[in-house]
Amino acid sequence: MRKAKILTTGMYVPDYVVTNDLLAQAMDTSDEWITQRTGIKERRMIPDTYKMLQQLARAPDKEAYLQALYDTGMDGKIDADMSTADLALAATQGALQQANMTPQDLDLIIQTTVVPDYVFPGPACVLADKLGTTSTPTFSLNQGCAGFIYALSLADQYIKTGTYHTILVVGAEILSSIFLYNNRGRDMSVLFADGAGAAIVVPAADDEPSGILSHHLHTDGTLLRKLYAELFGTSTFPPLAKKKIDDDRIRPRMEGRAVFAQAVRRFREVIRECLEANKISIDEVDHFLFHQANVRILDAVADSLNIPASKVPVNIHKYGNTSAASVPILLHESLQEGRIKRGDLCLLAAFGTGFNWGASLLRW
Ligand code: ACO
Repeated sequence: MRKAKILTTGMYVPDYVVTNDLLAQAMDTSDEWITQRTGIKERRMIPDTYKMLQQLARAPDKEAYLQALYDTGMDGKIDADMSTADLALAATQGALQQANMTPQDLDLIIQTTVVPDYVFPGPACVLADKLGTTSTPTFSLNQGCAGFIYALSLADQYIKTGTYHTILVVGAEILSSIFLYNNRGRDMSVLFADGAGAAIVVPAADDEPSGILSHHLHTDGTLLRKLYAELFGTSTFPPLAKKKIDDDRIRPRMEGRAVFAQAVRRFREVIRECLEANKISIDEVDHFLFHQANVRILDAVADSLNIPASKVPVNIHKYGNTSAASVPILLHESLQEGRIKRGDLCLLAAFGTGFNWGASLLRW
């Protein structure tokens, strides 16, 4: 059976840098609280959220400002300057350019996103519109922060079976648009941010050592209410009843401590599972590319498995938690920095809402 490999990668983050200090001017939080508990110093956000936070920071009555924002839009405008598909497109263009390919070279497009542009069609269709592809099939996944691992595993299967040759896998998120920047929403809004990462997956040559070696995927649906968002979902009827908004049921919810404990446990389990399945030890892995949720989660996982910090790249201080975009952004940066070299063994792992978690092992 053929082996798949990642040929090229791309990433995009908006230009606007939102520091902890800006968040602290907009709501009741501090650089110290955010840094100590999460390791995040700044994150990137789309122009709309950045402008909104600046206005909020200056507003004498912040609750009145937020109320007016939801009543009338920002400065009377409700159409977004930048959508999830724009971020996905920019990351994709980087990966395509590096591969010397055009969108027409793609046989399959898989996009994984938590908060899509539209309720329907799925985000991969919106990306296809931006790319100008008219018959290339698409998949839209919503597997939370583990989305890229899930999407990569799909691409791997299609290449192994010979069904498709050139597959685009994208994780893209505009998370800054769904959280509340006030005391009710501060537990989550300081964590999440915007960005996109992409990879082009193709068959490896028969004699090539590079390639994807295994995937290990899991879901525990019974814990979904530890981290979830109702928003426009059909768990209520009608989905956008005014009472739902009045009852504060469109705000994403998280039991932070439960998420933390589960994340550490599941990361450890799936890393061990991946190592055992491939009959390798921690020492043989050159890079552990983990979803960037919280630096304390990464430290706890690395410490408990005796993984040296030098093997665990971290960029959460710059980008916050970009959910499905986090692993491909980290992979792209690690490649650009020359950290990952040809022949290196990389273990990718992620955990998030669902709960979904998974790991992939690949030789670069
Ligand atoms: N700024 C200041 N104070 C805050 C903030 C904030 N942004 N958010 C909450 N607080 C307050 C709380 O109100 C609480 O105040 P109280 O003691 O007066 O009641 C206090 O800080 C402590 O709150 P806790 O929730 O107990 O804080 P904790 O130490 O557990 O840290 C955190 C919270 C950072 C969310 C932590 O639980 C965590 O990282 N959990 C994992 C969450 C995660 O990573 N989610 C990402 C999605 S899933 C994934 O990607 C893996």
